[in-house]
Amino acid sequence: MFVTRQLPGEALDRLVAKHDVEIWPDRLPPPRSELMARAPELEGLLSLLTDPIDAELIDAAPKLRAISNYAVGVDNVDVEAAAARGIPVGNTPDVLTDSTADLAIALMLAAGRRLAEGEAFVRAGEWRTWEPGLMLGRDLHGATVGIVGYGRIGQAVGRRLEGFGCEVLTSMRSDDLGDLLERSDFVTLHTPLTPETRGLIGDAALRRMKPTAYLVNTARGPIVDTDALARALHAGELAGAALDVTDPEPLPGDHPLLRAPNLLVVPHVGSATVATRERMADMAVDNLLAGLAGEPMPNSVTPRAP
Ligand code: DGY
Repeated sequence: MFVTRQLPGEALDRLVAKHDVEIWPDRLPPPRSELMARAPELEGLLSLLTDPIDAELIDAAPKLRAISNYAVGVDNVDVEAAAARGIPVGNTPDVLTDSTADLAIALMLAAGRRLAEGEAFVRAGEWRTWEPGLMLGRDLHGATVGIVGYGRIGQAVGRRLEGFGCEVLTSMRSDDLGDLLERSDFVTLHTPLTPETRGLIGDAALRRMKPTAYLVNTARGPIVDTDALARALHAGELAGAALDVTDPEPLPGDHPLLRAPNLLVVPHVGSATVATRERMADMAVDNLLAGLAGEPMPNSVTPRAP
């Protein structure tokens, strides 16, 4: 078995107790060459969203029987190539829904109320006195919020927004965003990354948003066209953006998006709480153990045979 990173909690101990397991020891993902080198003998793989598990790798692993991805999103795994070989692919839904929804709300509040800017201002010693016009932001309470992708996480965000007295607009379909984009004070993204949603929020979509609106992305970076977002922020066509995910990820330190005004960015931490990451580890290990035993994974994205 190969596990591409150490995981929080004790879940991996259960895997080690039953199988011969190698855990990649570095903080950075194993390079492609390391994955390919292990492929010929690989029977089970526990991967992260940073590891591209594509058809070439799957083809190079004739003994592979189970892939367990430590994420709800499986856009890094060629699920069809795995299914064609009868290899189940596991993921970690539900346990991270509430943590991710919490972060989306935090980003809306932080962007609207200019928290990062305010903190930098205080630390730079620029705070002189209370001023009527200092750091005026936008309210989340009472705002109109557009939720793009109304699955588990989108709905959890919607439930939270009820408490803020928001008007919530939702869209499940990527080709039907017009009204939502034009009316929302905050647009928050919760779709999986698929060929249909890649680049969904590009120039045209951004131009439909109100110049006073904020874009929040806790889903996947490539759903937003990075260049278009940087342009819109520089041109003042949006009030701001708050991103937990970016394209590329991570953003290089000299990336033009980082120089855009009114951008708040955090390092893909939607599910990053102790409890949630430990639950994800348990789930990923349960999936891998089941797959290796030839049993149905408790959580699998592999379509069931008709
Ligand atoms: C996921 O699970 O897909 C998140 O992006 C990381 O937890």
